[in-house]
Amino acid sequence: MSEIIVAYWSGTGNTAAMADYVGQGIEESGKKARVVSISDITPDSLKDASVFALGCPSMGAEQLEEGEMEPFVEAVKAFAAGKTIGLFGSYGWGDGEWMRIWEADMKAAGARVVGGEDAICNEAPDEEAVEACKELGRDLARA
Ligand SMILES: Cc1cc2nc3c(=O)[nH]c(=O)nc-3n(C[C@H](O)[C@H](O)[C@H](O)COP(=O)(O)O)c2cc1C
Repeated sequence: MSEIIVAYWSGTGNTAAMADYVGQGIEESGKKARVVSISDITPDSLKDASVFALGCPSMGAEQLEEGEMEPFVEAVKAFAAGKTIGLFGSYGWGDGEWMRIWEADMKAAGARVVGGEDAICNEAPDEEAVEACKELGRDLARA
């Protein structure tokens, strides 16, 4: 059975925790998940996948993390057309603007974004966010 990759960047662990819950949701639905930091894979490893998830917190000023994640996502955008992608991440003092921008960006690249901006949370995931992450995983497994 092919695995669904859940690739994330996380500075202080909140988005990493979310990634684990997305992975749990995938596995609850009978599919295999591979939860991995983007430092440990290349964008090319997503090229042949029709479904995957990307996670990143709000950094900079409502931006993706610039050093690693932004170049990673730029590379993914080149082959994102027709892919089904789940986006998730944590934020702090903002209102989730970075995720609205990110979702619009991936849609503009031709991706189908599953779950929209549902899987975002303020700092560490609370019960509601845990459920939203698992739901995203379940949706990806069904896609
Ligand atoms: C350099 C830096 C920039 C940030 N910029 C924003 C921001 O623009 N908007 C926001 O809501 N939170 C911002 N945050 C807060 C983080 O998104 C928040 O702490 C998040 O939970 C970090 O997730 P992580 O533990 O996965 O790294 C920023 C944090 C840092 C360290």
